[in-house]
Amino acid sequence: MNNIEKIIQTIKADIKKNPSKLFGLLYPYILLVGLGVGIFYLYNINKVEESTIPPAVPVSTQAEDLPLIMPSESVSSDISSLTTPTDDLINKGKVIFTASCVACHGADGKGDGVAAVALTPKPRNFTSKDGWINSPKLSGIYKTLSEGISGSAMVAFDNLSPADKFALAHYIRKAFVPDPPQDTPDEITAMVQTYHLGENQKNPGQIPVKDAMQLVINDNQSRYQNILSALNNISKDSQPGAQIFSRVTNNKIEALTTLSSSDDWHKSEQSFVDIIVNNINQDGFNGNVYDMTKADWNTFYSYMNKNF
Ligand code: HEC
Repeated sequence: MNNIEKIIQTIKADIKKNPSKLFGLLYPYILLVGLGVGIFYLYNINKVEESTIPPAVPVSTQAEDLPLIMPSESVSSDISSLTTPTDDLINKGKVIFTASCVACHGADGKGDGVAAVALTPKPRNFTSKDGWINSPKLSGIYKTLSEGISGSAMVAFDNLSPADKFALAHYIRKAFVPDPPQDTPDEITAMVQTYHLGENQKNPGQIPVKDAMQLVINDNQSRYQNILSALNNISKDSQPGAQIFSRVTNNKIEALTTLSSSDDWHKSEQSFVDIIVNNINQDGFNGNVYDMTKADWNTFYSYMNKNF
């Protein structure tokens, strides 16, 4: 025990005997903190007055979290059914817009959502004809949603299916854009070709926002894709290694995230064991790892090394 610890011990014992001493001891501290806050406030009085609202997280956290969707391939829909603004598509568009776009674009589409304050350039005001980069045509909005607008907070929404993107485009055009312009047949054809809309679509899958946050998706698109596809493969697999994985994990995404956070374990079985065992229950793995034999570890290690 070092000196400081001893002093703390003595003080603790003292306070136990006579609790009113606690206030005496803390008083100078409280006074100092109070003084500090006061001085800070006076120095910053101008800034405090003009302080802005911090930007909200773009994906609405109040709404229900997104469900886990495995990557899959879906058969292409008939394009003409998607380019026609049916009530179904418009209603679907409204639901997605409310969950994913309102934070920036605002419920009235004027570009005045809560997060807009902090953004330059500002989110598009859909009710105005000015400022459109890709146009409010179906093909323009589809392009924006597929590619994002570089240099702005408008990112590509890769997780949306083509049907979702059309649904959003129809909703925005119907609800906000005055006299929405129509695509020419050539523009529709070009869009179908550029985005391979006639072909079967690969759905990249999606994971709940709280898990996605951990992955910091924007910086780690490829890591995110690896985790999703490994998850998909392992859950379909019946090999002993895959079974061990299911047995020793509480949260599979977290477990894979833990493994993907370092490459060291690919080099030795020992570091594989360490990374898992050192943080049990917080790293997605559970206490079942303690029941594993040397042979189990070996099987598990070779399996994960090969498949992830
Ligand atoms: C984090 C804030 C943010 C979110 C969330 C967001 N946008 Fe945007 N959006 C912007 C900004 C900023 C611009 C303007 C970009 C520019 O002017 O360079 C923009 C522009 C646009 C445009 C106009 C593109 C053009 O041709 O000029 C469309 C359409 C659009 N967003 C649709 C959406 C849809 C649909 C969603 C939800 C799926 C969404 N946005 C979510 C910030 C956001």
